[in-house]
Amino acid sequence: MKDYKDKVAVITGAASGIGRAIAERCAQEGMKVVIADIEKEALRKTAKEMKAAGAQVVPVVTDVSKNRDVERLAKRTLDAYGSVHLLFNNAGVTTGTVIWESTLADWKWLLGVNLWGTIHGIRVFVPIMLKQDTECHIVNTASMAALISYPGRGIYTVTKHAVLALSEKLYHELSWQGAKIKVSVLLPGSVNTKIWDADRNRPSALQNDPRDVKELSPGYQAVNEMGRLALESGLPPRQVADCVFEAISKDKFYIITHPEMKPLLQLRADDILQERNPTNPFADLMPPWK
Ligand SMILES: NC(=O)c1ccc[n+]([C@@H]2O[C@H](COP(=O)([O-])OP(=O)(O)OC[C@H]3O[C@@H](n4cnc5c(N)ncnc54)[C@H](O)[C@@H]3O)[C@@H](O)[C@H]2O)c1
Repeated sequence: MKDYKDKVAVITGAASGIGRAIAERCAQEGMKVVIADIEKEALRKTAKEMKAAGAQVVPVVTDVSKNRDVERLAKRTLDAYGSVHLLFNNAGVTTGTVIWESTLADWKWLLGVNLWGTIHGIRVFVPIMLKQDTECHIVNTASMAALISYPGRGIYTVTKHAVLALSEKLYHELSWQGAKIKVSVLLPGSVNTKIWDADRNRPSALQNDPRDVKELSPGYQAVNEMGRLALESGLPPRQVADCVFEAISKDKFYIITHPEMKPLLQLRADDILQERNPTNPFADLMPPWK
């Protein structure tokens, strides 16, 4: 897609970070924008600021882990603008410790937002786009964590691998039937956003029972601290939005915003192809577990 003017874009997780930067870029391109997020006040503020900057924007409070919310989002989009051309399944959260100590609530929350959120977006919006039979594009936000292998952030990594597989299947199945819907998957490394504070939007029904939560080992705490610092010095979200729009314009599937991380992907591919056991690319940086 090269001509964006007056097209309609829906962005989930649009009240912060990467989603907000994509929404602002959509508006700058002259698109009509529907922004969806679970964080009501941040969404209201985003819509207000975007409108003040001249954007045509409709905010819809949405929990992407709930199918009925995503159906409502589609209805509000069609009621407001009559069609949809770009969909960004972007909302995402992270938490947890080593996989056997992460709680069931952690698993349900991350799978619900990161994976089911993307599934709901696809199930609800693809039939609308197919019926429309116009040029469309879907971008699913995965992560570099979908491509590389290392200890920590296990649930998050599982969900992002699933989003990558889902996106590849979607690409193949839409191409196979000659649909006018293009697909991309966004695979960022560290970006300076609020994802490390994802707990701010954790639903009360999925809060951890303190009795289930094991204390993080000093090693895991140190790894978390490294992750937080990496985010703070990560790419500005606006730069990620630039990469996304370049990919949409060129109909590029894999959106790699941190090309310097490609050797880690190569390392994993070599492990698999040579049938060697997984190499931890961060081994030199990892503190001792205890
Ligand atoms: N920041 C990074 O370094 C990084 C790297 C790779 C991938 N990502 C991915 O980018 C995406 C955006 O995250 P971000 O880094 O901008 O974080 P962020 O926390 O700044 O933004 C995420 C947004 O998603 C919203 N959200 C959370 N749960 C939701 C739900 N159930 N329904 C709807 N909205 C919900 C939050 O309210 C927030 O506004 C996520 O999918 C994340 O996994 C981020």
